[in-house]
Amino acid sequence: MEKINFTYLLQPPKRYTFEQPKLKQWVEKWCKGKVLNLFAGKVRLNCDEYRVDINKEMIADYYGDAYEFVKKTKMKFDTIILDPPYNLRKAREKYQGKYIGSFTKIKNELNKILNPKGIIISLGYSSTGMAKIRGFRKIAICLICHNGDHNDTIGLVEIKNN
Ligand SMILES: C[S@@+](CC[C@H](N)C(=O)[O-])C[C@H]1O[C@@H](n2cnc3c(N)ncnc32)[C@H](O)[C@@H]1O
Repeated sequence: MEKINFTYLLQPPKRYTFEQPKLKQWVEKWCKGKVLNLFAGKVRLNCDEYRVDINKEMIADYYGDAYEFVKKTKMKFDTIILDPPYNLRKAREKYQGKYIGSFTKIKNELNKILNPKGIIISLGYSSTGMAKIRGFRKIAICLICHNGDHNDTIGLVEIKNN
């Protein structure tokens, strides 16, 4: 059985994911090389990131749909961060209804823009991630407790096997 690095964080919720300092630091710790921040939002990370967001009010290098970007880009990355709206309700409440359509469709395209031994960091309510089926193995999990009646956030770090 392979060991997975486990972290448990207590972190009051914030409007934007990386406004939570402990979670931001955990993500930055796992980032390596050229980083694609595919649902970039408002908070810059302390790494060599390329930022994509569909909403012009966010801070991005490329404004447009994540799936369209992944389909057409010729760029390659060592790390990809996936922090989409966690569900349709959140998208309506917080991101002017901007949602991602099929997340599976996006995940299926990521291999072709990720360098060998590349890393995918996912945040959300599920621990499925890229999974074995796409050639990934989990190396770290972070459970973030926000207290009160908030859902926990799950952070995953997965590495490409080849
Ligand atoms: C959870 S927030 C990201 C927050 C960010 N990590 C931060 O801490 O600032 C999700 C982001 O995904 C963007 N988004 C929603 N649908 C999208 C799509 N189809 N393509 C690209 N970005 C999208 C939203 O505009 C929002 O900024």
